[in-house]
Amino acid sequence: MRTIAHISDLHFGREDAAIVAALKEELREDAPDLVAVSGDLTQRARRREFEAAREFLRGLGAPILAVPGNHDIPLFDVARRVFQPLARYHRYIHADDNPFYVDGELAVLGLNTARRGTLAGDGRISLSQMAIVRERLAPLPETLVKVLVAHHPFLPAPSGPPQALVGRGRQGLQAAEAAGVDLLLTGHLHRGFTGDVRTHHVAIKRSILVFQAGTAVSTRLRGEANSYNLIALDPPRLSCTVHAWDGRRFVPLEPTRFLKTDEQWRREA
Ligand SMILES: [Fe+2]
Ligand SMILES: [Fe+2]
Repeated sequence: MRTIAHISDLHFGREDAAIVAALKEELREDAPDLVAVSGDLTQRARRREFEAAREFLRGLGAPILAVPGNHDIPLFDVARRVFQPLARYHRYIHADDNPFYVDGELAVLGLNTARRGTLAGDGRISLSQMAIVRERLAPLPETLVKVLVAHHPFLPAPSGPPQALVGRGRQGLQAAEAAGVDLLLTGHLHRGFTGDVRTHHVAIKRSILVFQAGTAVSTRLRGEANSYNLIALDPPRLSCTVHAWDGRRFVPLEPTRFLKTDEQWRREA
């Protein structure tokens, strides 16, 4: 049994200090095996924003696996955007764009989907990242739960206006399918939901779950309270418990539980 705290879209620079303090306390109490951060750690990729994000992550007392989001690339500083888009991210958060965590039960690979070329903030997977997915995850035994973490979504939200999905998502999912991936953790939409990639990507035959996280601590809300996901991995069962901010504290909602039978993840009542 492993637990992952999935936090996303922190947007330091636009954070709510009270929620930051509460989340830090919560996560220290949860003591997850891993904290997965699915991008947008900062609002404008400023130095002081990265410093605040780093200090927050260091204070959690758990291993961290993070990927950058579109906001972690400078927008207005064009020289930095073009020539060293992720220099500060690399300096303050992770030197590696595609970090990897593995233990006896769990393998987690981060994929940087943030790109400097798109002012709209859309993301994309590269061909070399598809190769990394295969190389890192395919050789590992099926007994491990295999997880990908990326900023940009692979699945549309179940309601609301249409949003761009990650570029080359279908090819990325084919690599994930070949590598035996069970679960994708994503952000960017500032809305939380769960699903299976096959509801949208009909070419994918493998049942791969998606857990999308809301914005953990930022004031950039899109019709939903701040939240984070606490994920329990206990094959053949997975569960996702959204912890939603009620104005004073994070309150756990009813867990969404999945059971894998006949190679399919099915939602349990
Ligand atoms: Fe965001
Ligand atoms: Fe984003």
